Amino acid sequence: MSETAVLPTARNVSGSLRLPGDKSISHRYAMLAGIARGCSRIENFATGADCASTVECMRALGCEVQREEPQAGRGGTPVLEIEGSGVVLRSPGRPLHCGNSGSTMRMLSGILAGQEFRSELTGDASLSRRPMARIIEPLRAMGADISGEGNRPPLFIQGGKLRGVNYTLPVASAQVKSCLLFAGLYAEGETRIIEPARTRDHTELALRAFGAEVSNPERNQWCIRGGQALHPVHVVVPGDISTGAFFLCAAALFRDSNLVFDNLLLNPTRAVLLDVLRALGLRLSVLHVEERHGELAGVVQARFGELRGLTVSGATTAALIDELPVLAAIAPYTAEGVEIRDARELRVKESDRIAAVAANLRAMGAQVEEREDGWRIPGGQRLHGAELQSFDDHRIAMAFAISALRAEGESRMNGAEAARISFPEFYSTLATVMER
Ligand code: S3P
Repeated sequence: MSETAVLPTARNVSGSLRLPGDKSISHRYAMLAGIARGCSRIENFATGADCASTVECMRALGCEVQREEPQAGRGGTPVLEIEGSGVVLRSPGRPLHCGNSGSTMRMLSGILAGQEFRSELTGDASLSRRPMARIIEPLRAMGADISGEGNRPPLFIQGGKLRGVNYTLPVASAQVKSCLLFAGLYAEGETRIIEPARTRDHTELALRAFGAEVSNPERNQWCIRGGQALHPVHVVVPGDISTGAFFLCAAALFRDSNLVFDNLLLNPTRAVLLDVLRALGLRLSVLHVEERHGELAGVVQARFGELRGLTVSGATTAALIDELPVLAAIAPYTAEGVEIRDARELRVKESDRIAAVAANLRAMGAQVEEREDGWRIPGGQRLHGAELQSFDDHRIAMAFAISALRAEGESRMNGAEAARISFPEFYSTLATVMER
């Protein structure tokens, strides 16, 4: 049911945050734990509905999953123990529900293409509109029998023998790269994937953590040999930097802001946001960094700095794809404005994010030029509180809760519950750092 939330304004944000585990990494660890042989323990697992969809799919495929809930009031996060069955999974005997999660559907398809049974993957209304040709075509080239009407979900996969391929991705997509690396584990010979721009490398790092060999012979090229077995791991997931993005952008809005993030993901393929916010004017300090299973995590402090202007394009756009809505949502408050180009992919996310951001900014009285591949948003604007829409998209709901903090007068968000997809505790966490 659609819920409307009041989005208050604030005078400042300050305090410390320890965010639940990164969504992208949690999906990958849960899938790989499921096809490793033995018991993996995953601490600080993501709390959102998307990763829960992945876990439910792995359960349906025969993996035993124990979930230890955090103790109430202790600020903890869930721990998962997954008893993997090895690379051969059990036929679920019913459709696998991926909910709103494109990552679940696209990445799991790579594993299912290598199983000797037929599977059906379904999704909610938003996921059912999303393009799947990007995985269907390369998986077919590997010998898989996979289809979906109009190349959209539901997807039907009759798994079986796969052969390795050399494949150049037509669009930069970590989900597609991951799907093919997973399928590559089941293929005869070697699978080589070439990306047009660097995307998040969590799959490559996670595969290595679970004991597989993945090589990187050239920049943006990844190779995996079929027939490798995985061993279980004990891992701690770094805090989600894409969730952190909302709070980092909040820190950019108030003169006395001071937020400290503990255990924040600092993988260089994801931390581009920190460079971009620094270039915009935010004062950011990395106070500590450590490496765990190839992933970097650390303590980051964000304090106000005069926000100048910025243009984002090309490979930077690809690396920032999930953070662009919130960057656009705070753009009117910068001095010189923000231009975002080459972001056509945003049109096929959980919503058409280019249109959704433009509609909400206009509702708040902002000027915005909507383009096919992004926006040009002038700076120096004053926004007013307004009736806003989430478009059933978690990142849109959260992006505008941040923009609303600096508006004149409170706002209302219709469909605010969409935040549960990646961060159910978003509104309560924001309340802990907000000064009104
Ligand atoms: C993701 C990759 C990106 C991103 C999504 C998560 C991942 O999607 O937008 O939220 O975990 O690999 P694309 O692969 O479609 O770019």
